[in-house]
Amino acid sequence: MTSTTPTDTTGTSGPVDPTTTDAWSALARIQQSFSPDLRGWFAEDPGRAERYTFQAADLTVDLSKNLLTDEILQALLQLAHDVDIPGRYRAMITGEHINVTEDRAVLHTALRRPSSGDVEPPRPFTVDGQNVDQDVQNVLAKMGRFANAVRSGAWTGVTGKRVATVVNIGIGGSDLGPVMDYEALKPYVQEGLEVRFVSNIDPSDVYEKTHDLDPETTLFIVASKTFGTLETLTNARLARQWLWDGLAKAGAIEDSDESRTGAVSKHFVAVSTALDKVQAFGIDPDNAFGFWDWVGGRYSVDSAIGTSVAIAIGPDRFAEFLAGFHAIDEHMRTAPLEHNVPVLMGLLNVWYTNFLDAQTHAVLPYTQYLHRFPAYLQQLTMESNGKSVRWDGSPVVTDTGEVFWGEPGTNGQHAFYQLIHQGTRLIPADFITVANPPHPLKDEVGDGGAVQPGADVHALFLANFFAQTKALAFGKTADEVRAEGTAEKVVTARVFSGNRPTTSILAPALTPSVVGQLIALYEHIVFTEGTVWGIDSFDQWGVELGKKLAQEITPAVTGDADALEQQDPSTKSLIRRYLELRE
Ligand code: F6P
Repeated sequence: MTSTTPTDTTGTSGPVDPTTTDAWSALARIQQSFSPDLRGWFAEDPGRAERYTFQAADLTVDLSKNLLTDEILQALLQLAHDVDIPGRYRAMITGEHINVTEDRAVLHTALRRPSSGDVEPPRPFTVDGQNVDQDVQNVLAKMGRFANAVRSGAWTGVTGKRVATVVNIGIGGSDLGPVMDYEALKPYVQEGLEVRFVSNIDPSDVYEKTHDLDPETTLFIVASKTFGTLETLTNARLARQWLWDGLAKAGAIEDSDESRTGAVSKHFVAVSTALDKVQAFGIDPDNAFGFWDWVGGRYSVDSAIGTSVAIAIGPDRFAEFLAGFHAIDEHMRTAPLEHNVPVLMGLLNVWYTNFLDAQTHAVLPYTQYLHRFPAYLQQLTMESNGKSVRWDGSPVVTDTGEVFWGEPGTNGQHAFYQLIHQGTRLIPADFITVANPPHPLKDEVGDGGAVQPGADVHALFLANFFAQTKALAFGKTADEVRAEGTAEKVVTARVFSGNRPTTSILAPALTPSVVGQLIALYEHIVFTEGTVWGIDSFDQWGVELGKKLAQEITPAVTGDADALEQQDPSTKSLIRRYLELRE
């Protein structure tokens, strides 16, 4: 990245107001008379696809079907200079406290720095008195030893049986990353090992995930950055009771505290920054994997929070996963802005959000293994950029934070794509796919029509990927509809306006490295947008009030009449109705 503007973006002074920049004025001017014409743009400019296709590590990213012209791109790049994205990125990776409201460094990029060789910032990398590289490598080594012990059967439960099921108990960043990764990397999971994920405090979740398991072969990982999250600690206690009851019933432990403590030490490990609280829960700190306050929950899948994934796929594959992140971190750090994929994608989102009034953004993976990726991105993007004040506490001057959502294609095609194709809203969409599936299957019979006997089903799948972005970009005119012999009265209903923007992301295969690359890509898209908007993308005060009120309301829900009386009329009436219905 090259930087031209000497702006202080570290959080020690106020953010740049993007609306005061010439770049913003230029974008506003362009928007006034903007009339997108993807058909025309491609027709006039045969080099468009090539010019707007970029490479970041293994990811080929085609931006050409976006509502983008060279003039818009120049203004967006100028905006990136004006708000000093390179400077703020540098501030982040060098450990400045850019998370100002929590007065913390933001160093998820340090979790994936290689253990040897040249790296930026150079070694020794010390932040707030901590040797970051050394601490990261120590925890990774401990995780690796533990993962290997579980995988080889050297680690056993209290009755000497090897682990068959790992149950990760966590929520938010302590759940969404590991579960998304585990699902994405299923083809790499060791045979005979399964990982399940409990997150919801709805007791149905822990019940469904444990009721058919054998306690003797089950290992729980309690994953919580703070080790103070109500849902996780409640589920951990339920799991511990389930373990004790099951082992006692099987005659595997005695009715003594010592026996129960022994069982916990073989069936519970923890991941947290609060190792004192881990110990208070009864988990031996030797069986705990630490991380640090400079890792945000939603940026933590590449820390010890990924222990369940490291067990499932093994430490070597986990190292490849981290290397994938690092490859994109390096791209973000070194690629010039005009070729910098996360920056370009973040800037495009700003264009859509702040100038073209888009309110949501769809993420549509055309690989079933990424089916939890949109859910993962919802926390990453919306907990990061759903903010109304800037990092100096002043109100934001623009809209922030799109609603991210999505489902895998082709399922989504038969559900909500109608609205993306023909609705009244602008919904930029990212289409993500891989060239090589782990299980290529052939349709030996075919359908007698378009699908020939012996057809490669992945090719059929990808035909949909290519067709959707084409339809969204170029649409279908009334004349084209008429030319098909369509009755005049339904012609308008069958017209597709086109000019619906998409980004296509294509990787060779869904390897651990590529999954890491995809996550890092979106982390830095979020960073880019947050920097333009001048917000602290690394705090999450907006989740606090609901948590506090749930604690205050608990007595009212569990029968305290005075507490019930103190509630507002609507809440009181709802709780009363719940109490009437509850058997
Ligand atoms: O919901 C807020 C939040 O703090 C998330 O940011 C975090 O990922 C989640 O709760 C879980 O927190 P913890 O890992 O501390 O249990």
